[in-house]
Amino acid sequence: MTNSIADIRSRIADAHRAAVAGGIPDPRVVLVPTMGALHDGHLALVDYALELGDIVVVSIFVNPLQFGPKEDLASYPRTLDQDVARLAERGISLVFAPTASDMYPDGQVGTRVSAGEVGTRLEGRTRPGHFDGMLTVVAKLFHIVSPHAAVFGEKDGQQLFLVKRMARDLNFPIEVHGVQTVRADDGLALSSRNVYLDDAGRRSALSLSAALAAAAAGGDLGVDAATAAAHSVLAGEPGIELDYLAVVDPETFLPVADGYSGSALVLIAARVGTTRLIDNRSIIVG
Ligand code: PAF
Repeated sequence: MTNSIADIRSRIADAHRAAVAGGIPDPRVVLVPTMGALHDGHLALVDYALELGDIVVVSIFVNPLQFGPKEDLASYPRTLDQDVARLAERGISLVFAPTASDMYPDGQVGTRVSAGEVGTRLEGRTRPGHFDGMLTVVAKLFHIVSPHAAVFGEKDGQQLFLVKRMARDLNFPIEVHGVQTVRADDGLALSSRNVYLDDAGRRSALSLSAALAAAAAGGDLGVDAATAAAHSVLAGEPGIELDYLAVVDPETFLPVADGYSGSALVLIAARVGTTRLIDNRSIIVG
């Protein structure tokens, strides 16, 4: 594990040379960006990356730039030693865990990536500036690691859309892959923030995946019916405060109206007590 940009670059170069010497003529580097507090969802990204490439780099950085002033930056779970040990069990030693001053030596960045109009919708409406901060750090990680591919979770559906679009728009020669959300047996999407939930909160949180299942079941009848089915599940759970429920075209991330048919993404964000959770699911409409 290293927090130094120069060091991770030279370790990747060493790993590259060793792979060539070991008979892999063109080793592929795959980056898994994380904010740590690794759970089985992250490990699924790592396993995917191990299948995809020859050299896997995991970054662990709780990026201050993507947290709003009233958000949980200070309390965000940090389990670095445990994370490094879990990665070592999978044979991953290229762990880049910079501090905020390694990434932002001047305290603030003068240059930021803009997530554009889509970045102001849904998550971006509730969390202004979040996606600009997220894309800025992902662009920095792309430059630092220079991977052939990078792997992100589908749970953060809007993030995945924006990272793919940034890679395309800014000509990063990097394939961006999405990996299916990992769920607990009861359906709850794994998230580092689930540790904030008490038993009652966790029971309430199950209404998110239940609402997505209801939307999928109602998809045949159209966007409005799918939305109504999801709303009726959420309305039956007093322990949650809904932020948004949206059905979007996965190609544009713009909302779809009744009459739309084809593949759509249903996204939900809600508060359970003080914990904000998001989830999404692909459905077929019409
Ligand atoms: O999804 C996350 O954990 C973060 O948004 C990411 C992609 C590591 C950037 O900080």
